[in-house]
Amino acid sequence: MTRSASKIEQRVRELRAEIEHHNYRYFVLDDPEIPDAEFDRLVRELKTLEDAHPELLTPDSPTQRVGSYALSAFGEVRHRVPMLSLDNAFEPEEVEAFDARVRDRLDHDGPIEYACEPKLDGLAVSIVYEDGVLVQAATRGDGTTGEDVTHNVRTVKSVPLRLHGKGWPGVLEARGEVFMPIAGFEAMNRRAQERGEKTFVNPRNAAAGSLRQLDPRVTAERPLEVYFYGVGLIERGGLPERHSQILGSLRKWGLRTAPEATVKRGVEGLLDYYGQMLVRRPSLGYQIDGVVYKVDSLSLQQELGYVARAPRWAIAHKFPAEEEMTTIRDIEWQVGRTGALTPVARLEPVFVGGVTVSNATLHNIDELHRKDVRVGDTVVIRRAGDVIPEVVEVLAERRPLHTRIVRLPESCPVCGSAVVKPEGEAVARCSGGLYCGAQRKESLRHFASRRAMDVEGLGAKLIDQLVDAGYVKNAADLYGLTADRLAGLDRMGEKSAGNLVDALEKSKKTTLARFLYSLGIRDVGEATAHALAGHFASLEEISEASMEKLEEVPDIGPVVAQHIHGFFREQHNRDVIDALRRSGVEWASPPKKPAAERRLSGKTFVITGTLSGMTREEAQDRIRALGGKATGSVSAKTDYLVAGSDPGSKRQKAEKLGIPILDEKAFQALIAN
Ligand code: IVH
Repeated sequence: MTRSASKIEQRVRELRAEIEHHNYRYFVLDDPEIPDAEFDRLVRELKTLEDAHPELLTPDSPTQRVGSYALSAFGEVRHRVPMLSLDNAFEPEEVEAFDARVRDRLDHDGPIEYACEPKLDGLAVSIVYEDGVLVQAATRGDGTTGEDVTHNVRTVKSVPLRLHGKGWPGVLEARGEVFMPIAGFEAMNRRAQERGEKTFVNPRNAAAGSLRQLDPRVTAERPLEVYFYGVGLIERGGLPERHSQILGSLRKWGLRTAPEATVKRGVEGLLDYYGQMLVRRPSLGYQIDGVVYKVDSLSLQQELGYVARAPRWAIAHKFPAEEEMTTIRDIEWQVGRTGALTPVARLEPVFVGGVTVSNATLHNIDELHRKDVRVGDTVVIRRAGDVIPEVVEVLAERRPLHTRIVRLPESCPVCGSAVVKPEGEAVARCSGGLYCGAQRKESLRHFASRRAMDVEGLGAKLIDQLVDAGYVKNAADLYGLTADRLAGLDRMGEKSAGNLVDALEKSKKTTLARFLYSLGIRDVGEATAHALAGHFASLEEISEASMEKLEEVPDIGPVVAQHIHGFFREQHNRDVIDALRRSGVEWASPPKKPAAERRLSGKTFVITGTLSGMTREEAQDRIRALGGKATGSVSAKTDYLVAGSDPGSKRQKAEKLGIPILDEKAFQALIAN
């Protein structure tokens, strides 16, 4: 069945109106209503229809123009060399087709050399240097006319006001992307939230909003950066013959270029680069939405030329979108190990960040209310790297007539105990403790986890079965399980039952720190467990310690001391600990180390990136063995950051805070002598 001609024409009109509307929201207001991926889909649908029905193509179609309008408050700048855009590829086949088109047009047999670069997710700028001096900066605007943002760009510290070195052309128009690194974005949003000001949804919007400020003093406060990726107008001077060499020249003149830029040969090279950048993406410290491939030779570029708005010699290979739009079917409450109630959105399944997502966290009741998320709403979901998918915002324009507002339940949805939310805390909790099935399951999962008692093969599904069948009420019951009993469970053969019993047996030999951590005392993470084990001579001492004694341990404050103290005052907890020890759980009591052996005592380390000589966990163990503390996040309390390769945002944060950074060699030296 074919759609009638008038139906197609109508759809084309609809799409154009919709795209124009979103262009305006995105470019002019810096306040998009829909995620980029959704916008891309509208454009693709329109392009497909126009390709199939060229008679419907009009010069004013949004596919025939690059971007947007100029805000009247800024001066206008005409780009003498238009700022074009790029065609997109999503699948490897589309990259193959691009390469085939290039070779075909050039009548070229061997593999083509391509310059490969990250596709930065910020906003494009053109910066003109005359005789080496910055004279003008402009946004892309609609590609022909942009906005004059000279005053704002001058405040971006990584933009040189005067070029370095020599050999630059008399007029050099450098083009690049202004963006906000993730660490800076997060810090800025945190400050805004503390002051009760508006926060930005993502670094791209934050960068756009910051650059398009009428008051340059505001821009100057914002952590903006720039990477240059090409040139526009060139007068009185020449440039090298390859794009990669031009980048080299720009760098030499003090214009930053992406350090990840490189040259690859043929389609295999391109796809290889794509794969590498996809892996590196989470640790880059700034957002990219894909990579760009450009024919490296300028003479070949010239031969290939342009179509309408984009060069034939380049293409953007996009990553799976990290933000997508979907609807909320329901909002349920999940009960965690410490009883914390987390609102979880059940979603119309959606493909985002490379996987299909049907649940997203709403963090806590305060977040839920702040974002005003309701059942029936259309929302933006974000899944970046391996982070738990979250609801970013509600698309208010799409709210249907009837939505359901979700309130904090008065009683725990799992066990019925009262829910309490202390004044001033964001988190509400079930007061049922280990009476609550959900808390029991979560604490068993924690107990068996790798960094705790490390019971191999005892996963979440199995724990659910064990608790639901009534076989296990607390951690000590695990050690009473027999192979016979286990073999009766779902999907549990004799062999795996035997393996699990062996794994349980093996887990009994542990360390005091691991044991303390496995108990799941509120706020006692690995670092605190190590500090406790290092400070006291035995478990008995810890369990008898007064609040004051506990607070003598470095970094244990009154709140954590209260949690530890309270835990050991509960008879029920003491019973479980006794039962665990009776069933054979044991550790060697740590010999008190002489002072010389504890020379990292009082020092806090954070390890980031990949070390070549040891795993991160081994490095942490070494630090702890020498009396130091190893934690996961950089703060003002961090004494050293140990940075391996590909360190990511923690390194930037440490630099900002002025924390000394050790490379692997320096760290090895520190722990060796
Ligand atoms: S080259 C003629 N290189 O993507 C080629 N663009 O869709 C013009 N972008 O407006 C662009 N990173 O804002 C190029 N390494 C890169 C890029 C890049 C991000 C943006 C830029 C441009 C848009 C094109």
